[in-house]
Amino acid sequence: MSWTKVLPVESLAPGTRQVVKVGDRSILLINHEGQYHAVDNRCPHLKLSMAKGKITEDGAIVCPWHRSSFDLCSGEVKEWITWPPVMSKAMGLVAKEKVLPVFPTRVEDGSIWVEVA
Ligand code: FES
Repeated sequence: MSWTKVLPVESLAPGTRQVVKVGDRSILLINHEGQYHAVDNRCPHLKLSMAKGKITEDGAIVCPWHRSSFDLCSGEVKEWITWPPVMSKAMGLVAKEKVLPVFPTRVEDGSIWVEVA
């Protein structure tokens, strides 16, 4: 695990988000009500971008592709895509429920830092 300085604090106003690269990872940084969250930008369902995901009032991010939702703090699944019955068999393996990786954040020297393995 190592900490990486990713953005000046003023670059991420409340209610905004930004995708940053840390090593080979694409990380979605979110300022939700003054709290900084860092989540994997690739949805665990089909590895599509979470960047345009809606943030709910109860602190979840909803994948813009198939509406799975994940807790912003823990990455736990709040709701997982339900495939239509005709697709369930074919897509069963890729539809297996998985948590969204989340990463610790901190603010130091006017910058946002993220800890990534
Ligand atoms: S890619 Fe996110 S729910 Fe399918």
